[in-house]
Amino acid sequence: VKVSFVVNGVSRDVETAPDRRVIDLLREDMGLTGAKEACGRGDCGACIILVDGVTRHACLMLAAQLQGREIVTIEAEGLELLTRLQDAFVQHGAIQCGFCTPGMIMSAFALLRENPTPERERIRETLAGNFCRCGTHPKVIAALEALIMSMKESAR
Ligand code: FES
Ligand code: FES
Repeated sequence: VKVSFVVNGVSRDVETAPDRRVIDLLREDMGLTGAKEACGRGDCGACIILVDGVTRHACLMLAAQLQGREIVTIEAEGLELLTRLQDAFVQHGAIQCGFCTPGMIMSAFALLRENPTPERERIRETLAGNFCRCGTHPKVIAALEALIMSMKESAR
């Protein structure tokens, strides 16, 4: 079937099986390898993308579900908050092997778009669904808090 959707601001018409998993569609058919697959069953958060502004697990979505939707992946360009998040992760060393990082950043992006000044507990809750085998959560939280602080200061 033909599925039409917007990815990172670009309209795409993709010929695919309706039950092709979105993670495979993105990574294998479209060359967008930022979203990762680890568990493949909605547990780890490595594959998180935004669909119509909401975090979704690309390993659990099927291609047909993308019809008419707007998707944002870690590869998106020109989104200031996303760029600032990526910079904050690098600056604070919040990346080890990097496997969980795209999903982590997409979760944080969705949170900060909805609430630019979340409390630490809210950040923790949001990232609870993003597993990291390398133990980066403390550094991720530090990176996010530093970014939140600098955004508050520049808003003054
Ligand atoms: S690969 Fe999708 S949640 Fe783990
Ligand atoms: S940095 Fe390795 S899994 Fe998170």
